[in-house]
Amino acid sequence: MPLSATLVRPPGAPGPTRRRFAQWSLAGGLLGSAPVRGAVESAAGAADAPADASLAKAFGQRMLFGMAITPEQLRGREAAFIAHHCSVVVAENAMKPEALAPLREGQYEFAAADALVDFARARGMQVRGHTLMWHQQMPPWLLKDGSATVSRAQLIGRVERYITDVVTHFKGRVFAWDVLNEAFVDGEAPADPGGMRLSELRTIIGPEYIEVVFAAAAKADPDALLFYNDYETQSPRKVEMISRMVRSLKAKGVKIDGIGHQAHCSAGHPSVADFERAIDAYARLGVTQHVTELDIALNDSLMENKVTSATPALLERQARRYAELVGLFLRRRAQVGALLVWGISDAHSWLNSWPMQRFEAPLLFDAQLRPKPAFHAVLEAAQRAA
Ligand code: XIL
Repeated sequence: MPLSATLVRPPGAPGPTRRRFAQWSLAGGLLGSAPVRGAVESAAGAADAPADASLAKAFGQRMLFGMAITPEQLRGREAAFIAHHCSVVVAENAMKPEALAPLREGQYEFAAADALVDFARARGMQVRGHTLMWHQQMPPWLLKDGSATVSRAQLIGRVERYITDVVTHFKGRVFAWDVLNEAFVDGEAPADPGGMRLSELRTIIGPEYIEVVFAAAAKADPDALLFYNDYETQSPRKVEMISRMVRSLKAKGVKIDGIGHQAHCSAGHPSVADFERAIDAYARLGVTQHVTELDIALNDSLMENKVTSATPALLERQARRYAELVGLFLRRRAQVGALLVWGISDAHSWLNSWPMQRFEAPLLFDAQLRPKPAFHAVLEAAQRAA
């Protein structure tokens, strides 16, 4: 089923919380996830690198491999783990507008994001920037003029200034930016006749806001790859809407380099065939592609809350799903330059609290950073593609 009811978090709803799952140790015990022999030294050469084979090394030159990370993970065991497995990272939340400019226009809090970017670069990892513009996690000042709503001209000015300042700040350190996230909808939220989400940016500025944001990013760093990022990018309607946007930007001479597939998947959705058709359609537009936020829920649909524990059968089914999807991305490696999963382990996933509080275990490593069957499936897919 489509990712309906969409990625809208009610205002003020809590983000994911760290939870320990008693069930997990049972599953881990049953599976006895043995570390892979012949451990590969991490790119950083960290002495305490994990014993399991490095995913970044397995993907090698074929594709960048990485994870969404948080500032809290830059120390100790998690830091060594990230350096061992990743050739690219993205900040899960630390580079969103509400994090970088929480209080007022022109006042930035770059310290946490800088630490994350510098951590990655010092260990040979590249950094994706996520996300310059979105309809969520935007700071309140952006849309207000005192107690009134900001005017069109003011909002264009603020958006251009924010993008210019942020992209300039990270220039040469962030190789690819998600310039705009989730601007199109397929019936799950109010939209204009072209399917453009009626976000404040769209309603106050008009549909041309998309040109404004891409042009500002291109001007600030002509060398960065500029992406449009979205969920359900494989659905035929999204392919149509996003393709129209890309063609329109290119016709106007506005730079756009790539499509980001969030790829939040479940056991039952989407099909590999749909994904393959979509990748081929975007390839015809002359843009590159990244898989930016891959995770695979144990539930049949992302909107369900039926699974109560990670049984061996569910973990095996999840591993097969990872194998088929990652296998496709690797077959299309001429188009897909990077693959990132949305989190380092099941200790922390946004799916535990979106769209409801629930048990989920959608990533490659368990809450103790032990490899799951999904890890072995992805590792084998990468090694087979060698
Ligand atoms: C999520 C984070 O993982 C959560 O911690 C946060 O509370 C909300 O945002 N699509 C995106 C990501 O593009 O930025 C979202 O990240 C997940 C869905």
